[in-house]
Amino acid sequence: MDMGTNNEPGIADVLGYWNRRPCNIRHSRKDVGTREYFDEVEARKYRVEPHIPEFASFAHWSGRRVLEIGCGIGTDAVSFARAGAEYTGVDLSDVSLAMARRRFEVFGLDGQLFCHNAEQLDAVVAPASFDLVYSFGVIHHTPQPRAVIECARRLVKPDGELRIMLYARHSWKAIMIEEGFDQPEAQSGCPIALTYTPEDVRRLLDGLFDVTEMRQAHIFPYVIDKYLRYEYELQPWFKAMPTELFAALERKLGWHLLVVARPI
Ligand SMILES: C[S@@+](CC[C@H](N)C(=O)[O-])C[C@H]1O[C@@H](n2cnc3c(N)ncnc32)[C@H](O)[C@@H]1O
Repeated sequence: MDMGTNNEPGIADVLGYWNRRPCNIRHSRKDVGTREYFDEVEARKYRVEPHIPEFASFAHWSGRRVLEIGCGIGTDAVSFARAGAEYTGVDLSDVSLAMARRRFEVFGLDGQLFCHNAEQLDAVVAPASFDLVYSFGVIHHTPQPRAVIECARRLVKPDGELRIMLYARHSWKAIMIEEGFDQPEAQSGCPIALTYTPEDVRRLLDGLFDVTEMRQAHIFPYVIDKYLRYEYELQPWFKAMPTELFAALERKLGWHLLVVARPI
């Protein structure tokens, strides 16, 4: 595996980070790997990130072939599978993937799950075979994002679709990080967390996909220490804000850049 050069983080650093603490693993206090645990993980994820079900449009992919790049512990994975998609998920982190596999077993769902680097997916997945290539919060964490997009282009059907979430450069969260009030992920030390402007996204997809929709969503509004205790109290400045103003702020300065694109 490439360890990176000139102290640049490489894929082994990315793997180590996500294996130490798979994404959303502390979204429940129930026994890890139980039905109750996974139900709580899902409820908390979609409570805090309610734009996900709408963006993924799980029901729309019923009976169609979906590839998820970076499925993590499988929250969106089971939502696609439950909605009737023919689901394939890939993740670099074997620890995350073991949890996703367990989740499919617990709920008796069908799906194919591979542990693999998404920069080299051609080795394990047949070309032009997916109606949807979906990736939520993943491509900005890998050393070679363009390599992932090139794989996605080869794997999507000519009339298929790409739906990805990338971190937004012009965002409330990026300001908080820059000013030392926040960090990109729940656990510190994330080796790679790139941010993108709309122009950066077009460059990333250039010659491979045409963007059909791009919008921003999601400002995390809760008091962190309460959130860690599973209490959902808004920060005082967000509590004081009219709902419509908060929604406008999310559209302008949301951390999640939601991109829909068609292969060229
Ligand atoms: C923030 S988590 C998101 C997980 C999932 N999409 C979700 O929304 O819960 C990022 C995930 O990307 C995976 N990842 C990062 N780089 C990857 C790569 N090159 N190939 C496959 N997976 C990768 C990590 O292992 C981790 O599970």
